[in-house]
Amino acid sequence: MRLEIGKFAGFCDGVKYAVESAFSFAVKNNNDNIYVDGELIHNPQTLKLLKENNVHTLESDDDLSLIDGKDIIIRAHGVTPERKRLLQAHAKNVYNLTCKYVGRLQSIVKKYSALGYRIVIIGNAKHPEVVGVVGFANDDCYVLSSKEDILKLPSEEKNTLIVAQTTEQQEIFDSLVSIIKEKYSKVDLVIKNTICKATEQRQNEVVEIAKRNDVVLIIGGANSSNTRNLYKIASSIKPAFYVEYKEDLDKIDLSTFNSVGIMAGASTPDWLIMDIANTVKEKYSSRFKKVLNYLLDFTMASHLFFSVGAFLLSFAVSKILSEEFAHSIGVITALYYNAMSILNGYTNDALFLSDKKKYEIYSKYKIFFVSMITTSIFIILIISYRMGRDIFMLIIFSTVLGIIYNLSFKKIKSLEHSIFIKVLSSLIPFKAFIISFAVTFLLNGSIFLQHRNSVINNKLTFLFSAAFVFLLMFIRQVFFEIRSSQSDKIAGATTLTSYIDSSKLAVLVSLLPILLIMIMSILMIFHYYPSELKNIINMIPIAYSGIISLLLTNKKILSSNYLFFILIDTPLYVAGIVSFI
Ligand code: F3S
Repeated sequence: MRLEIGKFAGFCDGVKYAVESAFSFAVKNNNDNIYVDGELIHNPQTLKLLKENNVHTLESDDDLSLIDGKDIIIRAHGVTPERKRLLQAHAKNVYNLTCKYVGRLQSIVKKYSALGYRIVIIGNAKHPEVVGVVGFANDDCYVLSSKEDILKLPSEEKNTLIVAQTTEQQEIFDSLVSIIKEKYSKVDLVIKNTICKATEQRQNEVVEIAKRNDVVLIIGGANSSNTRNLYKIASSIKPAFYVEYKEDLDKIDLSTFNSVGIMAGASTPDWLIMDIANTVKEKYSSRFKKVLNYLLDFTMASHLFFSVGAFLLSFAVSKILSEEFAHSIGVITALYYNAMSILNGYTNDALFLSDKKKYEIYSKYKIFFVSMITTSIFIILIISYRMGRDIFMLIIFSTVLGIIYNLSFKKIKSLEHSIFIKVLSSLIPFKAFIISFAVTFLLNGSIFLQHRNSVINNKLTFLFSAAFVFLLMFIRQVFFEIRSSQSDKIAGATTLTSYIDSSKLAVLVSLLPILLIMIMSILMIFHYYPSELKNIINMIPIAYSGIISLLLTNKKILSSNYLFFILIDTPLYVAGIVSFI
């Protein structure tokens, strides 16, 4: 069975901004309750997580004294001016997260109301966005959702503004506008298509998806209007099903279809889309494929592909430094990062959202993976002990630091007040830097300790090898953070994506290899470049990692299951392979 997931499926910019802001307010608010005026998004799983982070929903009929002295969020749908005044009178802070498209719609309605125009809104009168917009209109305001509703309009002609709910179906808007045009032909009729860009893109895409596939699954909350519209569009072309929870798939039989298109409403989180897509894939794949996929999942959970890559990277570094490759350093590097990566999986509170399969494998085979961590650490210590005191101390230091850093992700009560843990916890958002630095420290540090004299004589080459390792690791780590940024934020985890927007961060990171190549070229021009690095081959892994980074800026590749995990580690393999040449 072939699966196609829509490029525009999932959070739109307005919802993304609202959800991320709500979670960051929750972090800043130090456990004090925050309220959202109405459900922040139409997604029960996200609402549950918000509640666990002390972000509660203020229902429209709740007593406003509930928010006295508290913070309140106005969600993307916006509110009436009257409601906003009431919230301001009670709450300590009012965070207005009204989507910019809704804000624009409110301003248009306000402007034309002041000019005395009749206001016609095409949309659902009960939808909170429309309720809010009506609050900006004068009394001569009508909300229409079907041709029959046109009868509600007064026959007396008057200058009229026609707008749409931001998530309205384009086709409905167009057909109602043409009827109103006939009805009010003698007056000034201002038509503003206020359907937002995200809705337009999604609606166009669902048409294409429905045409290309045998059946369409629409993922999203049952009371989300944009999800309902997507369903209506898809079902007018091909058989379509609503899926709100993974369990809904039990009621659907897709076995007679060869291809399934997946589209999701603007308030459906990425992790839910992935979870549902994976469940469909698993349920309808052959027995052989199921076993193969499980083996691949297990290999990825055990970080074996990455560990072999780390071994090859240590080989590449020895070659760059023109030192004989010590297999023991390769083994230490591979086992250390294998142990730390698995440990990171157990301490990562967002894993159950960002990578459900890995989470399930870790839960099911806990004893196996914990034994793997302890055995790896034990072997590392034995090997390093045999290599000499300096390397042994370096490994002890790195291992203790790695374990404590990982533990600082967990909110362990007894360790909460330890200054060391506090310092490490404050570094969590900089996980990508810390991990990349740790790899560089361990790998290049071990080689330095082994070949101190020759390294001191080739400082620039050593610096290049350190920059090389740091760069490959940093790019790898940042793309992992970008991939899981949505679920990290929902689970309250802070990473670099909390400070820089994921798409911008992906582009910035892709530029790093180009930057390193430029620095190398400038040094070459000014004859500062070490002669042993002049072989153009050293540029290949850097250029390759740049190409991979650019590929990963594509959302489809980034969210793919196996392709991402294979691509992200290939620069380590390329580095190892070119070193053989
Ligand atoms: Fe805004 Fe459109 Fe999303 S109005 S909240 S971008 S669906």
